[in-house]
Amino acid sequence: SKAKEIIVPFEMEWTLNDAQFFVPQRLPKDSYRWQFVEDVMRKESAAYGFKEIRTPVFEHTELFARGVGQTTDVVQKEMYTFDTKGGESVTLRPEGTAGAARAVLEHGLVNDSLPIKASYFVSCYRYEKPQAGRLREFHQFGLECYGTQSPVADAELICAAQSIFDRLGIKQLRLEINSIGCPTCRAEYHKALKEYFYGYKDELCETCNSRLEKNPMRILDCKSPVCSKIAQGAPKITDYLCDEFIEHFASVQKYLDAAGVEYTVNPTIVRGLDYYTKTVFEFVTDFIGAQGTVCGGGRYDGLIEELGGKHLPSLGFAMGIERLLMLMDKQGIEIPKPSTCDLYVAVMGESASLKSFEIIKAVRSCGLIAETDVVGRGLRAQMKYADKIGAKFSMVLGDNEIEQGKAVIKNMSSGEQTEIVLDDTFAEKFMVLQLADVDSFKL
Ligand code: HAM
Repeated sequence: SKAKEIIVPFEMEWTLNDAQFFVPQRLPKDSYRWQFVEDVMRKESAAYGFKEIRTPVFEHTELFARGVGQTTDVVQKEMYTFDTKGGESVTLRPEGTAGAARAVLEHGLVNDSLPIKASYFVSCYRYEKPQAGRLREFHQFGLECYGTQSPVADAELICAAQSIFDRLGIKQLRLEINSIGCPTCRAEYHKALKEYFYGYKDELCETCNSRLEKNPMRILDCKSPVCSKIAQGAPKITDYLCDEFIEHFASVQKYLDAAGVEYTVNPTIVRGLDYYTKTVFEFVTDFIGAQGTVCGGGRYDGLIEELGGKHLPSLGFAMGIERLLMLMDKQGIEIPKPSTCDLYVAVMGESASLKSFEIIKAVRSCGLIAETDVVGRGLRAQMKYADKIGAKFSMVLGDNEIEQGKAVIKNMSSGEQTEIVLDDTFAEKFMVLQLADVDSFKL
């Protein structure tokens, strides 16, 4: 037989969006996976009192430059920045914290009763070299809490992240925590670090050499084997913290212990963004390769002030949804597949098609999923389709059925057939039938 000609409407290059490299499936057949994960995040964070905030996908570039920090890789190398027609420089958000803080400030929420607890789902954009788990467009779920300096808030935030991972069934995640103090105690520490790293100037990678002057702490974060080996012997921030922060950090740990959350103190956790102060943390896994950090966060007591507001100690975290999905996949965690179709009504002729509209409308209003033919297929092809989409029940509607006012419903897996009258009670009777099937399935 003649081979079918495949028509490609445009060159393949055009179909690949620059931001879409290495993107795990985001197609309808997989949507139940991310919907499940997002549902858990939404419900779990609501239990901690967080309410959702929606922020714009782009902001004035200056917000990220000031908020995230001029010396960070994100601002220096990874932002999608462009000029608008009005000549303003705008940037696709590389993360959610700066935009949420801007919104909180702009809408005067800082004058409400504190703390303000906000959650968000955001798409983020970073021009990084794509690899598994490192995307140019990715999604974050985050929590931000404004207006508290209590270590209880730090511990509670970490507990919220842990609860989400527990609910998702994720195992073997390491929680690593650290305290990076404030700009004052960091000044001393920077001095000590510079002195130490200058001794290895010739061995450090090019990027770390450029970090030496401006931000030596970031060298601790470098993934190059040489730099990370050198970093192991570097002075520890914990030896430079002011008493107040030592106490704060100890208290966070006390609360984590009380909540039964396991963690290790890792003095090399510095985070890649400039706004952090005091507590920082990461949840890390070995299951998904080099990009193993699935969640990162910490305190940012100076950010709101930096953006023009009053001093408002705040904190938050964000988790990468794609990395979490990868991790769940690698750990073989099954995500419950929802029903795709409860009833498929196959039709023969126009009057049957019109009647099917009435029937599926009633079935749908009971919260069930119902479909009928919208393509104009023959009966056999319709039944094939019903089978393909995994319909639990099917029904054939033709002139006969309409004349007699009843039709046969077929259970697609057992083959069992039941006759139902096509009147106002149809949907109710179908509900009973399908509930009975769910029950017998359970037994
Ligand atoms: P971050 O560590 O840059 O922190 O990102 C948070 C999480 O987003 C990471 O742990 C990772 O799971 C995910 N992620 C980051 N970059 C990528 C990428 N290129 N591809 C895929 N996933 C990625 C922040 O963004 C902070 N705003 C977190 C925060 C909120 N701190 C306080 N509040």
